[in-house]
Amino acid sequence: MPEDFSRSWRLPAGKAGAGPKADGWGTMEKRAGGARTLVGQERGWTVEVRDPGETERLARTLGQAAEVPSVLVLTGPLGAGKTTFSRGLAAGLGADPSQVHSPTFALVHEYPGKVPLYHFDAYRLATAAEFADLGPEEYFDRPGVSVVEWGERVQEYLPPDHLEVTLALDDHKPNARRIRFAARGPKSERWLDAVRRAWEEQGGSCGS
Ligand SMILES: Nc1ncnc2c1ncn2[C@@H]1O[C@H](COP(=O)(O)OP(=O)(O)OP(=O)(O)O)[C@@H](O)[C@H]1O
Ligand SMILES: [Mg+2]
Repeated sequence: MPEDFSRSWRLPAGKAGAGPKADGWGTMEKRAGGARTLVGQERGWTVEVRDPGETERLARTLGQAAEVPSVLVLTGPLGAGKTTFSRGLAAGLGADPSQVHSPTFALVHEYPGKVPLYHFDAYRLATAAEFADLGPEEYFDRPGVSVVEWGERVQEYLPPDHLEVTLALDDHKPNARRIRFAARGPKSERWLDAVRRAWEEQGGSCGS
């Protein structure tokens, strides 16, 4: 069987959230036996938002542009705004955003909508294998959007083609966030291009 290169489509440790060049393209590496080999490119886009309302609006725009099924991974430190982002995404999918909270007890919540949202939170998992026990691929294949908070912890169980969203805080501006999108395959690239276009048409805050 050919090697599954998609499994190695990750940013090197410490590079998550690193900005792409101005043309929106960055490079990715595969580590094999310690060697680094260029295996592909990731499509990236970074937006700086000023407040939670803008985070929700950006996420809503993303929801409105979703193809189904799609998978989104949300990465970022505690309190970065992953659940806030998920709320906006729910609104964009025609689900009720007020219902969206961190899935504290259940590890996955389903929100019915025009397009259903499946909301996973990998934070409280003891091991990545616990995630596999939820049967995530069954959700990923349904005609909805799956969002996985702390998804970098369960990389090996994610579909290769997913959109990764990394939220970073700004030490000097408590309500600002840097939101970086990285597309991991052709479907997530289309999604990224669509949200970028729609955001620019709305006159949203600057991206690069
Ligand atoms: N620009 C912003 N975008 C998102 N949240 C913001 C922003 N500015 C301030 N906040 C605040 O930061 C908090 C983010 O909380 P949220 O639960 O969304 O984070 P989280 O990343 O899901 O946290 P956790 O890792 O605990 O699940 C909220 O109180 C929100 O109001
Ligand atoms: Mg959360």
